[in-house]
Order: sequence, then C-alpha cells, then structure tokens
Amino acid sequence: MPAISSTAPGKVILFGEHAVVYGQPAIAIPVTEVAAKAIITPDPAAAAGSIHITAPQINLDANFTDLPSIDPLVAAIRATLDVLGIAKPPAFRLRVTSTIPVAGGLGSGAAVSVAIIRSVSAFLGHPLPDVQVSALAFDVEKLHHGTPSGIDNTVITYGKAVYYIKDKRIEMIPIAKSFNLVVADTGISTPTKETVADVRRHWESDPEPYNKIFESIGKLAIAARAAIEQGNNENLGPLMNENHELLQKLDVSSPDLDKLVLAAREAGGWGAKLSGGGRGGNMIALAPRDRADEIKTALEFAGAKSAFITVVK
Ligand code: PMV
Repeated sequence: MPAISSTAPGKVILFGEHAVVYGQPAIAIPVTEVAAKAIITPDPAAAAGSIHITAPQINLDANFTDLPSIDPLVAAIRATLDVLGIAKPPAFRLRVTSTIPVAGGLGSGAAVSVAIIRSVSAFLGHPLPDVQVSALAFDVEKLHHGTPSGIDNTVITYGKAVYYIKDKRIEMIPIAKSFNLVVADTGISTPTKETVADVRRHWESDPEPYNKIFESIGKLAIAARAAIEQGNNENLGPLMNENHELLQKLDVSSPDLDKLVLAAREAGGWGAKLSGGGRGGNMIALAPRDRADEIKTALEFAGAKSAFITVVK
C-alpha cells in the first residue's frame, strides 16, 4: 500500500459567527493559504491494528491505544474506522502537520479532522464522500466545541464559499467578482468553546436582547450574500463593520481585535471585523485590490503576529 496524504484548508467566517449557533445564516470562505495535512504510511512490520500518531507541532508521538479517546486526532480515526466497520486496520503511521494557528478562528480543529478522515478512509480503500467526511468531522468538533453550528466542518470539507444555516441544506455561494481579504492574527489563542459558552450564558440569562443581536447579524449575512452574488463587493465593507459592532455587543471582541480592525479601516480597507470565535484569534479586512499590501503592512505595524492576503474567487 502506498503512502496517502490529504490536505484541508483553513477558513474564515465572513459574516454570522456566534449567531449561526442560534439558527441564523452565516457565510464562510475556505482559505487555502493555510492548511492541515495528514500523511499515512503503511507499517507492515507492526501487528494489524497498530496505529502510531505523530503531530510534531503539538509534541505528539504516541500509539493510538495509549491516547485518551477524547483526543481529537484519536476521535477522528476512531469515527472513520467505525463508519467503515473496520476494527483492525492494517498497521499504519499517521503524521499530522498544520500551518493553521490553533484556536485562532481559522478552523484548525475541523481541518485536521477532515484531513485525517480523508486520508484514513482512502488508505483503507474506501474514500468517503464529502457529506460523510463533514458529518464525521462535525462529531469530532462537538468534542472540543461543545455546541458547534457545523459551519467549520462544512466549509472546510467542501472547500467552497458557503451560505450556512444550521440543520438546513448547504448552499454554495457563486462569487460573481473576486475580492481580496487580508487576514491578520492577534497572536492570542482563545478556544472557541469558551466564547461560545459565554455567549450562551448571557443569552440564557437574558434572551431577548441577544435574540435581537443574532437576528440583526443574520440580516447582514442575507444582505452580504446578495452583494457577493451580484458582484457588489464594496457593499460588503459596511456590512462587515456593522457585524463587528454587533460582535462587540456580544462581548466577543477584544482590545487587540478592535485595534487591528481600526488599523485596517484607516489603511483604506472597505470594512473589517473579527472572524471566528473572537477574544483573540484572527480578524479580516476587505481590501480594495490596490490597497491589500498596504493594509497588510498596516496590520503588521499595528501589532498583528502575522498577516496574509487571500483572494476569494
Ligand atoms: O472555530 P471558530 O473560532 O472559527 O468559530 C466558529 C464560529 C462560531 O460561530 C463562533 C462557532 C460555531 O460553531 O459556529
């Protein structure tokens, strides 16, 4: 059996994070400048069923059976074996690497799961269809997110811009005219599980104002979808700014995120907002084509740990 490798992109949420957990629409975009990779090599010298996992970035080098079942890498392998009904696969070694910052709102957990599920199923001769890859990655997401909406596993599995409503049919968004986003990292990692749980606590204690904010965010996602489909990309800027303000009201922004958002607007961005769980992680700025480099430099100057430009097409 030859070595098998699979990659999965990162993602940004263009509109609708947090509100999407409460049934509002959201828009997410795959980002191929960062990716997770899983490589499987057969290990014919080892006994059947033996699986060795290495993930250098998290200092992991262990046998499958020595790791806890809630470990997300173990869970992704286990879910794949279970769905294929294979108890004792031919021995293999799995190496996982990723350039997606962990807990940075770029979908690192879902991307690692998707890469593992694809590589393990392909190695075993039964590559799974996207719908199943996404469903299994969603099961793993639940382990570390608590109550995920499912948007991360969806956009990362399909690798296309998606208009996502929880528990509804997935819709891909045709991009009428490509546009540039600058993605910048505060360098602060905040687990999404924490911010999602905080928002839930607030919502439970006082649902009305929170429901209003979620609905307002949902309306922005609807307007944004129309703008993208009509090629009115500039119109996305003010919608992003409004979305950021509503996320501030949900208390999921942070001084570092606000600083970068402001810097991007001052450097000529059409709009900017945090992306993902918030309180750290990444922000995104919509950049006129001829200003993307300046905005990236401005973000680095304003303290971003790293920044890159992605073209949405
Ligand atoms: O994984 P993150 O940080 O990109 O956040 C996902 C978006 C949330 O709406 C905050 C959570 C979810 O499950 O949709």
